[in-house]
Amino acid sequence: MSDVRIERHGSAEDATEALRADVREGLTAEPKWLPSKWFYDARGSELFERITGLPEYYPTRAEREVLTERAGAIARVTGAATLVELGSGSSEKTRALLDGLREHATLRQFVPLDVSASALSEAAETIARDYPRLQVHGVVGDFTANLDALPGHRPRLVAFLGGTIGNFLPAERAKFLRSTRDVLRAGEWLLLGTDLVKHPDTLVAAYDDASGVTGEFNRNVLHVLNARLGADFDPSGFDHVAHWDAESEWIEMRLRARAATTVRVPGADLEVSFAEGEHVRTEISAKFRRDGVRAELAEAGFAVRHLWTDAADRFAVSLCEAVP
Ligand code: AVJ
Repeated sequence: MSDVRIERHGSAEDATEALRADVREGLTAEPKWLPSKWFYDARGSELFERITGLPEYYPTRAEREVLTERAGAIARVTGAATLVELGSGSSEKTRALLDGLREHATLRQFVPLDVSASALSEAAETIARDYPRLQVHGVVGDFTANLDALPGHRPRLVAFLGGTIGNFLPAERAKFLRSTRDVLRAGEWLLLGTDLVKHPDTLVAAYDDASGVTGEFNRNVLHVLNARLGADFDPSGFDHVAHWDAESEWIEMRLRARAATTVRVPGADLEVSFAEGEHVRTEISAKFRRDGVRAELAEAGFAVRHLWTDAADRFAVSLCEAVP
């Protein structure tokens, strides 16, 4: 018998209120921006799944290579009873980890957290079906706002994979790592995936694929604003831009208005004008160096016990212990 439970942290109204506040702040700023978490409605989550299979988008494959190879070591070192996965999405890459932990037989519970209710419930159901002895306790919510109470038997292993930590600005990243450390006891674990700095051509191609899926994903945030706030964006009026910022070492995704336009956003009580060629920043995806990863983790109260990369050195997975 499979054992699945899904709960929601914060109501759908809270989420709409948060979206409204973000849109009011971001679209009245100079330059304009929108937080990347709003990409992920059902369509956005599906588009991201398609991105993970694109020839140019190497991070998912590189990370899976590391997880498959190191799952046994992760299980042995942590002895985890609960795997908590932040921003779990489809939980596809989590399987490598679950397989290793299952072999080691310490794991009892899987707790996926995601903002996308559709991606989460589908993932929770299939994982529960394929791992019948695992309790699956899904949580729908924004993990940046709901990290105060993490369920689960101890010791817990919190996995934050895919390089999603790169979507935070450096100050937000520090705060996030700190609050993750604060919900853990000393001796519990964080498994962190970080994409590594590499040649800009490789990075830009990964965020500007030839088939245009990433552009559709980027424009999806405008569909989300139309659907949830009654906005009247014409998404096809915006070009997809992926820019490598060599100084900050992050990829910046932007939407560029093809022509001057004014958009109404009644749900945020807002009217926004765009000049021709004006940009909206929709995502940063920071890329890391090994020393930087270690330093940021140490600063937050974690000791990096292992830092593994794929054979081509594209992506790092760090296994970190919460220290007193
Ligand atoms: C899911 C946040 C890890 O930053 O690479 C993919 C999202 N954006 N292509 C990333 C994304 C454009 C992705 N993360």
